Order: sequence, then structure tokens, then C-alpha cells
Amino acid sequence: MNRSVGYKLLERNENFYSPVESSDHGDHKYDAQVIGIIGCGTIAKIITDFQKERNLDADLKYFQDSDTSKAQNLASQADGMFVQDVGDMLDEVDLVIEAVSTQIAVEIIPQILRKGKDIIVTSIDAFLDLEFKNQVKSIAFENNCRIYAPSGDIAGLDGVKAASIGEIAGINLLIRNSPESLGILSGDESLGIATDEEILLFEGKTQDAVGKFPINLNIAAVLSIITNKEVDLKIIADPRVNHSYHEIRVTGDFGELETITQNTNWATDTKTSVLTAYSVIKLLENLNNNIKIGT
Ligand SMILES: NC(=O)c1ccc[n+]([C@@H]2O[C@H](COP(=O)([O-])OP(=O)(O)OC[C@H]3O[C@@H](n4cnc5c(N)ncnc54)[C@H](O)[C@@H]3O)[C@@H](O)[C@H]2O)c1
Repeated sequence: MNRSVGYKLLERNENFYSPVESSDHGDHKYDAQVIGIIGCGTIAKIITDFQKERNLDADLKYFQDSDTSKAQNLASQADGMFVQDVGDMLDEVDLVIEAVSTQIAVEIIPQILRKGKDIIVTSIDAFLDLEFKNQVKSIAFENNCRIYAPSGDIAGLDGVKAASIGEIAGINLLIRNSPESLGILSGDESLGIATDEEILLFEGKTQDAVGKFPINLNIAAVLSIITNKEVDLKIIADPRVNHSYHEIRVTGDFGELETITQNTNWATDTKTSVLTAYSVIKLLENLNNNIKIGT
């Protein structure tokens, strides 16, 4: 690992907590992982900016995007390399970050795992297709590699994971988004929608909502994967909302757990929250930590 990067990381950590949480301490040093990023949009940009400004202990090296200019921009910002095809980076990387889309995730995840490379998947709603999830799990097992999913823009996954050891009675997820982000024009009288009213767009099992709305169902997917249960989903279009809002309620033999997150989007023209990208950055940092806090 680049020592100056390690020392800078240590200095930053010392202000907040014991350096033992850093990946560079004592005689135990780790090489920074060589990382390839597929999809150079919002999430990739936030990660690359963070690495440049605050020295993320990871070597962001390869960048791929169907929009070549986006990949080239991030590559030059990170002193990395642009590659035309996903396959061009796979012999060189330790880990790949998928930050593209559900559709492309389905294509590239098996390809990456077959090369024996670990992957951080942001489009985790690809795994709502149980056949695909099981197929990918077997490929990861056969090739001795790992699939990581960041917690995205919600809180409380640690508690849900612990709770899933016992009996889970129910999982409810409420997504409240602006009508525009749900594909409805607010004030569209032909649909009988008034701008100052909220509308219940969907209520039912998550599987029945797949493909019906222009929002991702990543949160429902992670909750369902962790608990191995279907998630009861409600989607509300709310003209008063200008951020993404998730309310989670889990009940079981452990008791009851409720969380609410209201996230700021990275920019007005993006759908992805800042917290989602931060959760990928934290996951990358955690991979090297000797002490892992949280379930
Ligand atoms: N896990 C979560 O909680 C969570 C939250 C928000 C977003 N996401 C998911 O993360 C993914 C990325 O989000 P984002 O906001 O960075 O998206 P974005 O739209 O900003 O970026 C996606 C990038 O992928 C590129 N792209 C499109 N098709 C491609 C292809 N065939 N090959 C290579 N590149 C291609 C686009 O040019 C774009 O640069 C999305 O699938 C989104 O659903 C997950």
C-alpha cells in the first residue's frame, strides 16, 4: 500500500477513534485493493471525489461506462484507466463496483464472479429474481468470491440482520417519493391528481411491484434477502416530498423495529442519495478494518 496514503488515513482516524480501526497499524499492513468501477454516474462520481479529497484507502484503477466520456473523466480524476469493456479489467482487479443499472447488473455479475473477483452490487434489486439470486450465489461459491451489498439509503440493517436469527413476523417498507420521480406529473388533472395531495400508488408484495414504477426496489431487495421473507410494500407519491423517504417496520420474536430515513439527493437532477454512495465508501473502508463494528 502507498504509505503516505496509509499515514494520512491514520491521521484522519486519530481525531475520532483509535487507530486500530484503520487498515494501517502496527506491523499489519494491507495492500490497497485494486478496484474497477462499472457505471460512472452519480455513485461512482461521489466515490471518486471522496478518494481524491480524503484518501480512501483503495486503488480506484479501472473505469467503464457506455458513455465513454464519463468513464474517461473519472479515470483521469483518479489517475486510473478507462476501459472499453468490462472484460478488459477483470484480470487486473481485486474487486469490482457495479454502479450501473439492474438490467446491466444481471449481465455482468455472473461474468465478474466467474473470474473469481469480489463485487459490490448497488443494483441489488436484480436479486428480487430468485432464480438469478440462486444462480449467482452458486457461481460465487464455486469461484470462492464474495458479493457485497451496501446498506444504501436506509438505516437499521444491522438490527434487521440480528432479528432474522429469530422469527420475523412481518416486514413493511413505505417508500414516499415525489410524483415526478414515480413517473407521474404532479397536477396532471387527467389522472385526477392534485399537487397538494398524496396518492397511494401501490400496496402489496414487492414482487408484484417489480417493473411497474421508475424507481428502484433496492431497499426491498436487501430486506428480503436478509430475512428470507417477502416485504410488504407501500409506495406513495407525495408532492410535498423532494427527497427519498423510507420507513421500515419489522416485527418478530425480538420485538419491533422502526426506522425512517429522509435522504438528500446528490443533485437535483439525480435520483440517488448521498447516503447511498457514502454507504459504498464505508463498505470499502470496512473491508480492511480489523475491528468490525455492527452486525
Ligand atoms: N442500493 C441502494 O440503496 C441504491 C440507491 C440508489 C441507487 N442504487 C442503484 O445504483 C445504480 C447506479 O446508480 P447511479 O445513481 O450512480 O446511476 P447513474 O444513472 O447516475 O449512473 C449510471 C451510469 O451507468 C452508465 N451506463 C448505462 N448503461 C450502461 C452500460 N450498458 N454499460 C456501462 N455503463 C452504463 C450510465 O452512462 C451512467 O453513467 C442504479 O442501478 C441504482 O438503482 C442503489
